[in-house]
Amino acid sequence: MSKQILILPGDGIGPEIIQQAVKVLECVNQRFALNYQWHFDSIGGAAYEQYGTPLADSTLQKARQADAVLLGAVGGPQWDNIEPALRPERGLLKIRAELGLFANLRPAILYPQLADASSLKAEIVAALDLLIVRELTGGIYFGKPRGQEVLASGERKAFDTLPYSESEIRRIGKVGFEMARLRGKKLCSVDKANVLASSQLWRAVMNELAADYLDVQLSHMYVDNAAMQLVRAPKQFDVIVTDNLFGDILSDQAAMLTGSIGMLPSASLDANNKGMYEPCHGSAPDIAGKGIANPLATILSLAMMLRYSFAELQAANAIEAAVGKVLDAGLRTADIAKAEASSVSCAQMGSAVVEAL
Ligand code: NAI
Ligand code: MG
Repeated sequence: MSKQILILPGDGIGPEIIQQAVKVLECVNQRFALNYQWHFDSIGGAAYEQYGTPLADSTLQKARQADAVLLGAVGGPQWDNIEPALRPERGLLKIRAELGLFANLRPAILYPQLADASSLKAEIVAALDLLIVRELTGGIYFGKPRGQEVLASGERKAFDTLPYSESEIRRIGKVGFEMARLRGKKLCSVDKANVLASSQLWRAVMNELAADYLDVQLSHMYVDNAAMQLVRAPKQFDVIVTDNLFGDILSDQAAMLTGSIGMLPSASLDANNKGMYEPCHGSAPDIAGKGIANPLATILSLAMMLRYSFAELQAANAIEAAVGKVLDAGLRTADIAKAEASSVSCAQMGSAVVEAL
């Protein structure tokens, strides 16, 4: 049976960048005779407007039935004041949790063509290629109890909980080791085991897992040191595995080492490599509707889908090579261009990738 892809454009620049990725999907579908089928639905603010909720049950049902999901981005200031449970971001958290997408893969790659886009010195970041594996469905973003209360004194108090079970740590740890095995065989587990109980269990489970991966060199680092090391000497890392909160922050930090968040894809996988694929960036309300967003992160997310969910390595490699080609040719969207006058539009960038393919 042909593979089914659910496409959720979302809000802000979401629809613009997804449109470019769909052009690329149409192209590889034909060129590699993939015979995929895809259909569209809403998520986030767009779903709130259409269905009154950021993730409709019918959409979730379609996502369960699909073999993979391609997502743009969600959120925007127009939904800032609605009830917290109905905010666009809740739709994203819910679909990740409901699909059991516990492993978030976020590569940070510095394209040689964009070497001068980084805020760091060229010799520190040249040829940077690291992968952050972030736990995505546990930890402090989901832990209960959470909430606010008013103390007897009248003071307001708020609290979150950071729980991790052994099995949650084990399954994300395994993904970290497996990814390291496919790459440079170095895994750095990042935690805060000097302070947090959840991190102490995290570290213990990682050490237990290491016995099954003798070919991978495991190290541990406290998260504050990891933040420092990422800007001091980022090339010391191959694969980093860490929890939901630390991974959120460190992966954005790593993204910036590469110059533009508009270049970085991500994959979120379940235990069977079913996945949701999305750019690392948000809905960029500041540039939405202007046609200047960088579609490459979304196009590269499509390449990750072909690689991790469908094992179509040839097609995945072809997309990545095409992106390299357009960068070689000097095409730049505004976020990666040196001068605005020399930049191409979102649609022009998408078309150029299709042409290169
Ligand atoms: P953002 O990633 O949307 O934007 C940060 C900055 O990067 C902005 O200046 C934006 O113009 C720029 N940028 C982002 N993607 C770009 C692209 N493809 N091309 C060119 N420039 C790009 O993060 P921000 O501003 O913190 O959040 C905006 C909204 O997005 C919020 O509602 C937030 O909650 C939501 N958000 C959604 C995410 C998702 O859907 N996965 C992730 C992060 C934020
Ligand atoms: Mg983030």
